[in-house]
Amino acid sequence: MIIIIDFGSQYNQLIARRVRECRVYCRIVPPTLTLDEIRALRPEGMILSGGPSSIYAENSPKADPGILDLGVPVLGICYGMQFMIDALGGAVRGAGKREYGFAEFTIREAAGLFKGLTEKTMPCWMSHGDSAEALPPGFDIIGSTENTAIGAIACPDKKLYGLQFHPEVEHTPKGRQILENFLFDICGCTPDWTMASFAEEAVEAVRSQVGAKKVILGLSGGVDSSVTGLLIHKAIGSNLTCIFVDNGLLRKNEAEKLKVSFRQHLHMNILFVDAGDQFLDALAGVSDPEQKRKIIGKIFMDVFEAEAKKIADADFLAQGTLYPDIIESVSAFGGPTAVIKSHHNVGGLPEKMKLKLVEPLKYLFKDEVRQLGEALGLDEELVWRQPFPGPGLAIRVLGEVTRERLDILREADAVLLEEIRRSGYYRKIWQSFAVLLPIKSVGVMGDQRTYENILAIRAVTSKDAMTADWAKLPHELLGIISNRIINEVKGVNRVVYDISSKPPSTIEWE
Ligand code: XMP
Repeated sequence: MIIIIDFGSQYNQLIARRVRECRVYCRIVPPTLTLDEIRALRPEGMILSGGPSSIYAENSPKADPGILDLGVPVLGICYGMQFMIDALGGAVRGAGKREYGFAEFTIREAAGLFKGLTEKTMPCWMSHGDSAEALPPGFDIIGSTENTAIGAIACPDKKLYGLQFHPEVEHTPKGRQILENFLFDICGCTPDWTMASFAEEAVEAVRSQVGAKKVILGLSGGVDSSVTGLLIHKAIGSNLTCIFVDNGLLRKNEAEKLKVSFRQHLHMNILFVDAGDQFLDALAGVSDPEQKRKIIGKIFMDVFEAEAKKIADADFLAQGTLYPDIIESVSAFGGPTAVIKSHHNVGGLPEKMKLKLVEPLKYLFKDEVRQLGEALGLDEELVWRQPFPGPGLAIRVLGEVTRERLDILREADAVLLEEIRRSGYYRKIWQSFAVLLPIKSVGVMGDQRTYENILAIRAVTSKDAMTADWAKLPHELLGIISNRIINEVKGVNRVVYDISSKPPSTIEWE
């Protein structure tokens, strides 16, 4: 395993990704880990990340300098290299010439970290204010740019290396080769990390964490909770109870399909709770999106808690928390901040019911969760399910949510998804769904003037939902979808396509 010490760089997740793309397992850890804690992880190598601070600034993040004496190879990137230089008796100069963006990097020798890089120069991506000024004893300069004389350093005897540029970004095209040289030649890692091996380890880890105790999991039907459920089920079988709350806000036939998949195919122990009426009654007359969310969140908690209490001897609550949700970053103002997306947690339930957490996916990215789902034999449809919000169709029926309006949306959404799947776009885009607008407009059907609902179609591409672009679906496909919805779904006489990006719009309309 490689550990990445997090000095707060915006690129940390990218470093982790790159390492895993080389099929080497890695984890991002905070700089506050003690030497003993680091030793216990038995890393084959360490990468010190970049970061926004200046090494001499008060409160700049520092790791124990003893990490450089463990005999474990270290690659310092940007701030990580400056930390290394400072800790070993070299010097770093405060902002002289800031260097940001592309630079031409001159390689001294195509060996060691730069093995195989036979061209004398290569483009690299720089982003730094401070620069190294004097090397620690035992180090050599192995490359430079016009503005940065000490562009890369090495002390091969101690297996310590530093890069002022960022090898992990796409703007450094040879970055992958450099990381491979570090991982395979210098650290001696083998590229044997696969999802199947991760699945085995993860199942073992759940077994040893949970033992013979009982676990509860809130199953939403989304890929994260489904994979979590399947993994824990493999580990402890019927000691896992899943709770699935049908809130009456799901898509067409969704609850039924989930029942079949989980109960019949996967033989999981599931409590299905049909709480649709409770949710819909409480939503009557409510149009404000925040209020809708609050009502849904509260009822979900109540229903879930009442069910969870039936499993009186449960000790654990499982959650499909992913890596980007837990990543700890060090802000420029010091102090690690854990960024946790609240909608991934079942509120304060763990504290309230004194449950410990099981989070087997917490070191994975979304696409890795999908690979894991495949490795565990999860249905293709579940593995590739597009994200679906917890409050469900309630935030896609704008204005008041009624049973009748939900039905209109469900029918239209089903047509849309059928056509998106048929066209092959389903997996290519992040999300595609229908939104029922709270206004009507005039149309003409046969000889009749109509005054009916407008339906909006939203389809976006995205990597992480933080930003998104509207999907450039072919006009022919949009035409088919519009025709079918207007002809087949009673109550809709106009379909529009949303061409806004996020930001400034959001993905959901609410
Ligand atoms: P927005 O609309 O904020 O959505 O651009 C970003 C992503 O998050 C999903 N979303 C939710 N997911 N619970 C969830 O689990 C929620 O309350 C929720 N609200 C939005 C949304 O579908 C999109 O993928």
